[in-house]
Amino acid sequence: MGSDKAVQSAGKAGALSEEDRVFLQEVVERDRAEHHGRLSYMDIMFDLEHHYGNSLPGAVLGEVARLVGAPASQLNGFVTFYTMLSTEPRGQHVIRVCTSGPCHVTGAPSIVAELKRLLGVELGETTSDGMFTLEASSCLGICGVSPALMIDDDAYGNLTSGDLPRILAAKRAGGAQ
Ligand code: FES
Repeated sequence: MGSDKAVQSAGKAGALSEEDRVFLQEVVERDRAEHHGRLSYMDIMFDLEHHYGNSLPGAVLGEVARLVGAPASQLNGFVTFYTMLSTEPRGQHVIRVCTSGPCHVTGAPSIVAELKRLLGVELGETTSDGMFTLEASSCLGICGVSPALMIDDDAYGNLTSGDLPRILAAKRAGGAQ
């Protein structure tokens, strides 16, 4: 993740620092080089989400739109289409619980209920300490180990409610398991 200064300037004041502008230009140019002159909006957005604390501030999207020569509305439309991307501030870790069919029938509702209880939040909310945002997700592509969830880039499957305190504690401590 990037500096707190960058996150604060872009996310709260709605204006970009020179550091932000340089960083955004570097991200776009690197992506263009990696894709041989074309652009992958998804790769760019993932890079920016990691840098800006799991969200994509409007000022950031506006500057990226300018850099890639696209209307800001097009980038906003892209971000709002994909549930893994967000323009809203989110926690340090984003928990995505799969609620699609196979996970639903193997226990996703009880996993969601237990996460709500443990974290004290509803779906779409962030814990008061800013550590976790809890979200429902469509299929994560790991149906063979349903019910499943992802926290950031780490996948967890064959879950029971009893697994959750250990997983959350490890994340709080900075680990993946
Ligand atoms: S249905 Fe849950 S991972 Fe595919």
